[in-house]
Amino acid sequence: MAVDITYLGHSGFLIRDTNQPEYAVAIDPFLTGNDSAKHTPDDIKCSHIVISHGHADHFGDDTFAIAKKNSAPVFGVFELAEFCTTQGVEAVEPMNPGGQVQTPFGFVALTDAVHSSSYQGQYMGVATGIILNIGGVTIYHAGDTALFRGMKTIRKLYKPNVAMLPIGDRFTMGPDHAARAAEMISPKFVIPMHYNTWPIIEQDPATFHPPAISTQIMAAGDTWHYGG
Ligand code: NI
Ligand code: MN
Repeated sequence: MAVDITYLGHSGFLIRDTNQPEYAVAIDPFLTGNDSAKHTPDDIKCSHIVISHGHADHFGDDTFAIAKKNSAPVFGVFELAEFCTTQGVEAVEPMNPGGQVQTPFGFVALTDAVHSSSYQGQYMGVATGIILNIGGVTIYHAGDTALFRGMKTIRKLYKPNVAMLPIGDRFTMGPDHAARAAEMISPKFVIPMHYNTWPIIEQDPATFHPPAISTQIMAAGDTWHYGG
């Protein structure tokens, strides 16, 4: 069991199955208009895309371009998936929180998130977190969210090995709440995200230190190998 996790900046990740490298999942790729990004949409080679919610720092033209170029299906909440089809994306996997879809590499599930979701003024369904099982590794990408008690249930249901948690505050948890979230989820590793993209979500990631959990701080463009 092993994956290669590339941080695309902000809340974007590319997660590749080390042993079956034809399977790579892009989560919330936000590259155009993201000064921290080291990749362009053309650089992203993926087989699948999963989107947490409709806000433009997670979803939009980059999603559509990457989906089309790679013939990659887009997984997301029902309204968001429907919107993708109106933008010419051919394959979508509409879902809702609590649902799971089997894939050739494992599965994708959506969880609750406490947050809003819209795109260009249009309702995009509820905001979600993402569970990705790939290469025998289970990853919880919390999306944009507040701390909520259901994270304990997420731990019980999925036992994630790695969790990506927002720490930027203002729109999501800040470092203190994210540390509480990490305790509730209890993964082996936690990766902070959704900070320092703009001054209004500036944070020192060193202030995020959940006890007894290893923190993997990544810079945009970094790739980290997790597993055997
Ligand atoms: Ni958001
Ligand atoms: Mn956001």
